[in-house]
Amino acid sequence: MNRWLSPEMFAAFAAEQTNAHRVFTSPQSWVERLGEDVLISHKSDAARDEALTGLREWTARVGFAPARIFARFLPRQNAERVSPVLLAGDPAATLESVVLERGLRYGIAFNAGYASGLFIDQRENRSFLRTLAPRRLLNTFAYTCSFSVVGAQAGAETLSLDLSKKSLDRGRANFGLNGLALDGHRFLADDVMDVLPRLQRRGETFDVLILDPPTFSLGAGGRRWRVEDQIEDLLRLALELAAPPAWILLSTNCTKLDRPALERAARYALKVARRRGEFHATPALPDFPAGEGARTLWLRVT
Ligand SMILES: C[S@@+](CC[C@H](N)C(=O)[O-])C[C@H]1O[C@@H](n2cnc3c(N)ncnc32)[C@H](O)[C@@H]1O
Repeated sequence: MNRWLSPEMFAAFAAEQTNAHRVFTSPQSWVERLGEDVLISHKSDAARDEALTGLREWTARVGFAPARIFARFLPRQNAERVSPVLLAGDPAATLESVVLERGLRYGIAFNAGYASGLFIDQRENRSFLRTLAPRRLLNTFAYTCSFSVVGAQAGAETLSLDLSKKSLDRGRANFGLNGLALDGHRFLADDVMDVLPRLQRRGETFDVLILDPPTFSLGAGGRRWRVEDQIEDLLRLALELAAPPAWILLSTNCTKLDRPALERAARYALKVARRRGEFHATPALPDFPAGEGARTLWLRVT
């Protein structure tokens, strides 16, 4: 099987105004197109070199000349993660750029650490959010606020929560890239597990809530976040803020949590909160092999 994106699929992405997508996936590496640039993620130097050779053949086949090629090593331990390095292209050019996804613009920074600004495996979830036309959107673990941009574009008031002030600043910049004014949009740099109870005490409610936490992090006061231990608590807090009919996106990269595990957590949280809900799946990503990318679940709370 050819694991490189077909020329037809490449053209289909261009037609839908998307230039941020996977182009290749193997057990040892993957390759993403990010606007004018390409990023190779690899587990070894040999895998990087193999991807680079394949990339040169693929770009010739689809007629795409990347401005730059970056590579980042995929370490076993998160603590060892580093920024991408430039393999080809102008070393004097800015390390920032802008990509398009279904007509919306998002900033990329190849010098901002391991993640460059947009998780492309959330594309279908962002599109589904758009169809929901949210009125009040709560975006937890917001990172660069891509879900908030989509919500705002669809007319929602948004609240974006993330521990990282820098990521929220990039979120504000993403609003600007899409010509969205910041009125009606809040950005709060704080620990999600502290903020959600405060929102409940204030009587705030939302019709769409995004829960896409990391597998592990150190929260406020050095408190450990481990998604497999806290997913039910997070969902329970989110359910308190959901004004039915409401939608909750639950998403994770944690390999220990597959879709049945997400459903079990959601069923348990619904039972504890004495709420009813149905599950909804978004379409598979055409540029990701089955089983690759985040596991996700939309929950409709009634
Ligand atoms: C996986 S990323 C979220 C990606 C985002 N949903 C998107 O699609 O762009 C995880 C984010 O959670 C933030 N984070 C980690 N622990 C947190 C906590 N306890 N409270 C708030 N934010 C946290 C990190 O700073 C990071 O930006």
